[in-house]
Amino acid sequence: MTDIAFRSAEASDAEAIARLHVAVWRRTYRDLAPADAFATLDEPYRLKRWQEKLAHPQPDQLVLLAESVGRLVGIGAAGAPSEEAFDSRGEIKFLYVDGEFKRQGIGRRLLKRLALHLSAHRYPGAALSVVEGNHAAAAFYEALGARVIGRHVDAGPIWRSQNIIMAWDGFDELIQ
Ligand SMILES: CC(C)(COP(=O)(O)OP(=O)(O)OC[C@H]1O[C@@H](n2cnc3c(N)ncnc32)[C@H](O)[C@@H]1OP(=O)(O)O)[C@@H](O)C(=O)NCCC(=O)NCCS
Repeated sequence: MTDIAFRSAEASDAEAIARLHVAVWRRTYRDLAPADAFATLDEPYRLKRWQEKLAHPQPDQLVLLAESVGRLVGIGAAGAPSEEAFDSRGEIKFLYVDGEFKRQGIGRRLLKRLALHLSAHRYPGAALSVVEGNHAAAAFYEALGARVIGRHVDAGPIWRSQNIIMAWDGFDELIQ
């Protein structure tokens, strides 16, 4: 397995996070997202959002980084639920692994650490949204024990997308 170090993000990581986020996002959604979302969701846009997120954390927020020899190769975030449909489960967000580092267990290890964080904050489980058509991500979450509990429309602000909601009740499968 690749030698990967995990740590919480700091304000000074915003630029590297935005760069990875945009690169992986564009590759993932090139056949799914509308052209205007592609144009708008660029590095300056993401950088501003990540700077805000890191400067003003939301409740129970953890932004986790995976690094290989100091290079950022994966990100993931967890925190309080932002969707009613998640019920009281904690939310997983922004799970992105560099294309060169996929299928090396980094996504699984990020998710495990995010689950430990949510469990420590006494959430009864975890939930997340997956854009319909992102079959690889849905397969990944399913392989890690998630089940589909519903669907919802993410209104934006840039891309109104149809989403599947996937969830875990409890953390046993994620933490093992
Ligand atoms: C989804 C993602 C985070 C998975 O990260 P990863 O590090 O590649 O995944 P892992 O190596 O930890 O995979 C764990 C298991 O999940 C399953 N899995 C992972 N990717 C899969 C794929 N593309 N298709 C089917 N199953 C997959 C496998 O069972 C895998 O175990 P195996 O490799 O031993 O067979 C990563 O592919 C990614 O960044 N995708 C693009 C961004 C994205 O869609 N993020 C999710 C937004 S909701």
